[in-house]
Amino acid sequence: MAKKDLLSIYDLTKKEIEALLAKAFELKSKRKHLTDLTGKTLGLIFEKPSTRTMVSFAAAMAQLGGTPILLNAQNLQRKRGESIHDTALVLSSYVSGLMIRAFKHSDVEEFAKYSSIPVINGLTDYEHPCQILADIMTVMELLLKTKTVEALKKLKIVFVGDSNNVANSLIAVSAVLGLDFTLICPKDYAPKKAILDKALKYTAQTGAEIKITSDINEAKNADVIYTDVWTSMGAESEAKKRKKAFAPYQVNSELLKKASSKCIVLHCLPALRGEEITAEIMDKYETSIFTQAQNRLYAQKAVLLSLLK
Ligand code: CP
Ligand code: NVA
Repeated sequence: MAKKDLLSIYDLTKKEIEALLAKAFELKSKRKHLTDLTGKTLGLIFEKPSTRTMVSFAAAMAQLGGTPILLNAQNLQRKRGESIHDTALVLSSYVSGLMIRAFKHSDVEEFAKYSSIPVINGLTDYEHPCQILADIMTVMELLLKTKTVEALKKLKIVFVGDSNNVANSLIAVSAVLGLDFTLICPKDYAPKKAILDKALKYTAQTGAEIKITSDINEAKNADVIYTDVWTSMGAESEAKKRKKAFAPYQVNSELLKKASSKCIVLHCLPALRGEEITAEIMDKYETSIFTQAQNRLYAQKAVLLSLLK
């Protein structure tokens, strides 16, 4: 059977996302360590820092009976110029799967092209698919009585902030599942045309409502308010300029007044309290934000079982 990669949310069908979420909920309810991945190894390559992705993938692998191998990209011969082609061929003969956090999405695609083992995107400049599976799981867990995609469609999900990797994956998941999604961002930081064109290929079929606006009032009646840092890893030189441009888009108590009374707040973390979100809102909504972080473990266990078993 051909190997399967998870580089983008678009690598998954609606049915596959539903199956992953169902598995993630099952794993969370049992909270039991399994042995399904005994003898399997997962190489984890990090070009950028990570707390959640690194530790949750390593723990998930160990709790499924497998072995994680944490690799700092700085210590690989890639750093001295070894090609992705050669690295991918070599690693494919040692480990059962690779999770890669990279600056360039195209590098992860190249790894996947030359690897004979599944490759998982652990965040690139373009997407963060594993994060988004945990996010959808969290929305279902906290807001829905029946944990189905159909029920999810009734919710208004709003992302306030930069059109970054997390936002791109939220657009993708909304397009594939047919969700009601609004992205509120400054005009100069709207998603690239290619991102929206890709989503549009799905919306007619799935019924997704995807709105991009710079008007903060569009957070009205939101069931979910989601934010992320204004400056992603790799864009640090723009931090000062971004801080100014995004100041009106802070998630704070004023913004939450516009939302539904049952609204939850999400943040993929790490957060800069006082920038994209106030400390007050972080503390008030810590249940949803930290359940979201916790769910990375279960969503990724489901991914690992589906790709490596
Ligand atoms: N949300 C997320 O991916 O966190 P880390 O950068 O800590 O992995
Ligand atoms: N958009 C952020 C997400 C961090 C998990 C970044 O890329 O830095």
